[in-house]
Amino acid sequence: MKLTTTFTAILGTVALSSTFPSKVASHPETKEELARFFDAQSAAYHCAPAIAAYTVARKRSWAQKVLGGDALQNKNLFVDGYFDDMGLDSQASTIEALKEKGKRIMACDPVVETKIRNSTCVLAPEVTQGPYYHTEGHPIRSNIAEWELGLHFQMDIGVIDIETCEPVPNILVDIWHANATGHYAGHPDPAPHLVNEEPAKSGPRKGLLSAFPRTVQEDTWLRGALPTDSNGIVQFTSIFPGYYTGRATHVHVKVHNEWTVLPNQTFTSGNLVHTGQFFVDDKLNEQIDKLWPYSLNPIRDLPGRGRTRNWEDSLNIYQDAHEGGYVPTFDIEKLGGVLTDGLIGYATIGINMSASVEAVWNPNSGKGA
Ligand SMILES: *[C@@H]1O[C@H](CO)[C@@H](O)[C@H](O)[C@H]1NC(C)=O
Ligand SMILES: *[C@@H]1O[C@H](CO)[C@@H](O)[C@H](O)[C@H]1NC(C)=O
Ligand SMILES: *[C@@H]1O[C@H](CO)[C@@H](O)[C@H](O)[C@H]1NC(C)=O
Ligand SMILES: *[C@@H]1O[C@H](CO)[C@@H](O)[C@H](O)[C@H]1NC(C)=O
Repeated sequence: MKLTTTFTAILGTVALSSTFPSKVASHPETKEELARFFDAQSAAYHCAPAIAAYTVARKRSWAQKVLGGDALQNKNLFVDGYFDDMGLDSQASTIEALKEKGKRIMACDPVVETKIRNSTCVLAPEVTQGPYYHTEGHPIRSNIAEWELGLHFQMDIGVIDIETCEPVPNILVDIWHANATGHYAGHPDPAPHLVNEEPAKSGPRKGLLSAFPRTVQEDTWLRGALPTDSNGIVQFTSIFPGYYTGRATHVHVKVHNEWTVLPNQTFTSGNLVHTGQFFVDDKLNEQIDKLWPYSLNPIRDLPGRGRTRNWEDSLNIYQDAHEGGYVPTFDIEKLGGVLTDGLIGYATIGINMSASVEAVWNPNSGKGA
């Protein structure tokens, strides 16, 4: 696998060959669907070492890019390991050791990644699309933040083919997520008669509220799509997502291998190959919940409909995404010495180029959130 340090995104247009027939593959519901879903995860699993190496190379390249590619000056931006490096280290038993560690964090040590984890974030296919996808209107761009307030969040998303374990260039990665207080662009408020709605107590939408309708057609913030570069990578600049009733913090993603760019720089999809969601470790979520403006989320203290943690996620979306040894969470590092400098999250999507899926949201089926 060859990785260069250039991350220039190629804005390509891929011809729309045919309208895709409706073949529904959203969140698995039957035993057979679940079995197929778990099979796909195991099929992708053999790529774990390749993905770990891929992620390390991406971290290095990103650091070089940010530092202007000066190899001699190359002190990488990242501290070694995860955000929880900021916490007290049980290994560091003396004050001196802690001070040393503090220095190391503030000095932004080079990336040292020696372990290849079998849990490297690979997203297996087919987790629900949910009600907040816009079939029209996701602009092709790298910076999706617009004027939304929140913690700077850089997403580095790689796409690999699970049959070859090789990166997939020029494939459209399409993402959308909620703002710091849990709203999606275009869906600002619940309908007036739903303002005091309680989450469903049972049935397919257990734990969830009715979806907020799309009332502001032109809003595009925190939505965007970009084709992977020659290394199979896209980077998005955004804010860290907020949360809403019934759902753990997540970022939605779709991958299209055929699309047409429209005159206003949005696109229409020709063929969808992946629908999924990325999550964030709850230890980090807990820290970010305390930061402004995440701390303003009006549901934070509402009993029964407030903060949802990963393992309580509605529709078992997080749980199922975990099956087969997967960790569907971003591999996250700080961009600077402190949390408020922002974060970069690495994730890799494993796709099967021979399979196609179409995810639809049917409000009556309860699928999606
Ligand atoms: C872009 O153009 C398409 C097709 O005319 C339209 O449906 C869509 O709403 C437009 N999107 C934006 C953000 O203007
Ligand atoms: C999130 O979006 C909603 C709807 O547009 C808006 O009312 C709210 O102020 C936004 N949150 C933040 C933190 O800006
Ligand atoms: C990954 O490693 C963990 C701990 O070493 C192990 O429990 C788990 O079964 C492994 N996952 C797979 C899919 O082999
Ligand atoms: C990819 O999809 C094709 C067609 O559905 C299937 O035959 C093949 O087994 C899949 N490959 C993997 C690695 O899952």
